Formats: sequence, C-alpha cells, structure tokens
Amino acid sequence: MRTVTLIPGDGIGPEIMSAALDVVKATGVQIEWEYHEAGIPAIEKYKDPLPKHVIESIQRNKLLLKGPLTTPIGTGFRSVNVALRKEFDLYVNFRPVKSFEGIQSIWHDVDLIIFRENTEEFYSGIEHYIDTIKSAAETIGIVTRFGSERILLYAYEYARIHGRKKITIVHKANILKYTGGLFLEVGQQISKEYPEIETNDKIIDAVSMQLVMNPHQFDVIVTTNLFGDILSDLCSGLVGGLGVAPSANIGKDVAMFEAVHGSAPDIAGKKIANPSALILATALMMRHIGELDAANRIENAVKKTIKDRQFVTKDIDPKNPVTTTQMAEAIIHNL
Ligand code: NAI
Repeated sequence: MRTVTLIPGDGIGPEIMSAALDVVKATGVQIEWEYHEAGIPAIEKYKDPLPKHVIESIQRNKLLLKGPLTTPIGTGFRSVNVALRKEFDLYVNFRPVKSFEGIQSIWHDVDLIIFRENTEEFYSGIEHYIDTIKSAAETIGIVTRFGSERILLYAYEYARIHGRKKITIVHKANILKYTGGLFLEVGQQISKEYPEIETNDKIIDAVSMQLVMNPHQFDVIVTTNLFGDILSDLCSGLVGGLGVAPSANIGKDVAMFEAVHGSAPDIAGKKIANPSALILATALMMRHIGELDAANRIENAVKKTIKDRQFVTKDIDPKNPVTTTQMAEAIIHNL
C-alpha cells in the first residue's frame, strides 16, 4: 500500500479534503494517509507553521496532498505553500485549464496548460524595508539560467510526449530586461530542439487581454513565478472559476497536489465550497503514481456531475445549489 502525507489545510480546507478523501476511497486505490497540520493550526499547536516532523513525513513518502493554507497579508509568517515548494524544490507548477460542459462561462472548449516556474523570482522571499520608518521597500526577484532551463525543458518535454502543438513563452522582457530577458533567451534556445512544436513569445499584459478575448489561440503557456500565479486565476475564470482548477507541484523526488484556490475565508464553515478543484488534484496525483484508470474515473465523474447540474455547489448553480458533501456524493455515484 502507498503512503501519502496529507495536510487538510485551514479555511475550507478540511471540508473539501474530507470530500476528496471519500472520492479517493471510492476508487478502490489503496492509500494510507499520514495526517499532519501546517500553517495556522500548526502554529497554535507547535508554534511553527511548518514543523520538522511534517517535513520528515513528506521526505519519507515523496507525495503530499494538501488543502489550502492561509498566509497572513503584509505581515506575519511567510507562506507555507511557498516554503513547501522551496523545501522540496518543486520547480514545476502544472496547472491544466479545461472547460466543463454545464458551467456557464464566456468560453467553451478551452483546453490549455500553464507551466509556472515555482521556486524563483519574486517568491524567493528576499525583501525588506530600507529603514525603520518604512520610507521604501525592496523585493528582489532572481531568475537563474538553471531554473529557467529546467521548467522550460519540462514544458517542452510534456508537450512532445502529450502531442501538444504550441508553446507560448510569457514574459515582460521589454521592461524586465534581465530577468525576463534571460527566461526568454533560454526558452528560445530550447525551442530549437523541438522543431515540431510551434513556439511564440508574448508579453504578459498582451497575453492577459488575449486570453480573455480568445483563449483558443493558446495551447501551452510557460512563464515565470508571479505571472504564472496571476494567469492561473485568470484562466480558471475562463472555465468556471477557482472551484474547478487543480494544480500539481512537481520536483525531482517529491510531488505535491492541491487546488489552485486558497482557503476562501469568506465561505469557510458554510459547507458551500466546491470540492471539485481538490478532487481533480487527486486525479492528477493518481496519474502521477500510475493509477491511470482511477485518474480517468475521477475526472469523468467530476465532468458528468457538473454536466448534469443536479448536484453542484453555489459557484456553479447559484439558484439550486447543494452542499460540498452532496456534490462529492454525486461524484462518487458517477465514478
Ligand atoms: P481564495 O482562492 O481563497 O478565494 C478567492 C475567491 O474564490 C473567494 O471569493 C472564494 O470564496 C472563492 N473560492 C475559492 N475556492 C473556492 C471553492 N472551492 N468553491 C467556491 N468558491 C471558492 O483567495 P483569497 O481569498 O485571496 O485567499 C485566502 C487565503 O488563501 C490567503 O491567506 C491566501 O494567501 C491563501 N492562498 C493559499 C493558497 C494555497 O494554499 N495554495 C493559494 C492561494 C491563496
């Protein structure tokens, strides 16, 4: 039996995690979960947002299923989500964006993938006020050739293996001439080794507009950390919102699966959160560990449940919504 570290998270985390675990159990794939706390619950209990025993569990099991974790804004402890990505060098952030029949959104048949560099640039945590009266602040974004090469290579290899036709390198190299320039230069070099894949590059601001106007012109997007973060939420909005957007964080040894969304404090405890994003993240995990049948069954069950629109949460059907648990039960029924 496979053992996976599990962090339920806070906010809506425990509600959607319970739903996701029921779905995984119903697939029949045998997984032993090692429960741990991180973030706010861990501070309350251990005075440490990412205790050593949690890191050791992930190191041992190499797999982590994680609910969302709140990060205080402006002050307080640094993001545990970012800390986990750095600790285990999870340099690939894989975020597929796919339309669902049954969700009312401006676009249909969207099918694109965002590869976000997950460890460098403005998420490195190198920042400070220049003096005690906070007259100015500085955040340093470091982009390395090594870091750019490995995410770009991963995206191109993925595209080659999965028959994707086109890669768009997204940057702001007209202004960020060094960090953006290096990422773009590395991308252009690597693209020469993949002549069967069409490559183009675009500036982040133009891409944001073009994604809203016509997302079908994009296939695979590869970009730096901050732009990837922002574009992921934008793209989830093209297919029905954060409730249906899963994410995988992949490194050489360890992989972490989660939803794109955060802890949604505005709806926490109300039993109305859509569990689909985290459930779809369990499907990404199944695919990662070679349980392809279970992965397909989970994805198809989510698709059918959304298409039927009988048992869907408020974000999908505000007029006739069901609870998180009821939607998960419908997904299990459709497995
Ligand atoms: P958020 O993603 O938690 O919520 C944004 C909006 O989407 C809210 O209106 C929320 O109700 C809605 N939403 C999110 N997930 C939903 C779901 N499953 N079903 C229905 N509606 C859903 O972003 P927000 O509010 O800016 O961040 C809250 C906290 O989460 C912050 O502390 C932030 O740092 C953290 N966060 C954590 C992430 C992670 O654990 N990987 C990722 C993003 C944010």
